[in-house]
Amino acid sequence: MAISLNEFDYLRELVLTHSAIAIESGKEYLAESRLAQLAYVEGQTSVNALLTNMRGKPFGTLHRKVLDAMTNNETWFFRDLHPFEMIKRKVLPELIVSRGTLRRLNIWSAASSSGQEAYSLAMMIEDEFPELRSWTVRILGTDISSAILNRARGGRYTQMEVNRGLPAPLLTRHFRREGLEWVIKDSIRSRVSFEAINLSNPWQAMATMDIIMLRNVLIYFEVPMKKQILARARNVLHPDGYLFLGSAESMMGLDDGFERVEYGKASCYRLRR
Ligand SMILES: C[S@@+](CC[C@H](N)C(=O)[O-])C[C@H]1O[C@@H](n2cnc3c(N)ncnc32)[C@H](O)[C@@H]1O
Repeated sequence: MAISLNEFDYLRELVLTHSAIAIESGKEYLAESRLAQLAYVEGQTSVNALLTNMRGKPFGTLHRKVLDAMTNNETWFFRDLHPFEMIKRKVLPELIVSRGTLRRLNIWSAASSSGQEAYSLAMMIEDEFPELRSWTVRILGTDISSAILNRARGGRYTQMEVNRGLPAPLLTRHFRREGLEWVIKDSIRSRVSFEAINLSNPWQAMATMDIIMLRNVLIYFEVPMKKQILARARNVLHPDGYLFLGSAESMMGLDDGFERVEYGKASCYRLRR
């Protein structure tokens, strides 16, 4: 049975309220494809029946599973490459000079999904910046989904996932094989911690960040929510810190407090002085 307009509206409202993700009208096919497996596992005859069953019930595990299933978690190691080149060649060398007395760096992968972005940074720091071994370098990965955060904490990836973006020498150096999976070694895993943060809710107090990776998540939000999140990011970013958005995302019309900085084929944002 196809999803009725009522059930689809209920789903859109649920996702908007809890994740701030805006699903466009007419995208019932998206709900069908993302929720079909869950409906089957839950013993429902259709996605429509699953949604009917949830309506009117207090928010619980099933609602959380639906939110997780409706979220795009796509990510990969060293995604888009150029931002990582910019971090390696410009951002970290500059921070190493400016934080030379404090010897502390805070890096935040906001909307970290299954952890590839945070672990990419940890591997880069381990391999390219031996001088940082005596510093306190904290890499924090956060996401709205506790299921995806558990995956990130586990640091276990399929062959297909490590084939996406991870150079072979890094795979052999930083992962060990366990059956069909690749598990990130403790030397890298211990550099990263993961916590649940819903970007659309007020953020808990957090350390001032030197680098914020806020990539490929603002695209799912409506303009007022994008603006709110960027205003919060402005407050958390160190006055000379760096904010990265996704390669298809821009600050245009959203926040005048940031200015764009380019390096090679990459760009990021810094607080306007
Ligand atoms: C497409 S992935 C991007 C992952 C990574 N940043 C990257 O660029 O590869 C989007 C992530 O945003 C998370 N997300 C969606 N809504 C969120 C919210 N309101 N707060 C925090 N994370 C959210 C999803 O769970 C998902 O893991």
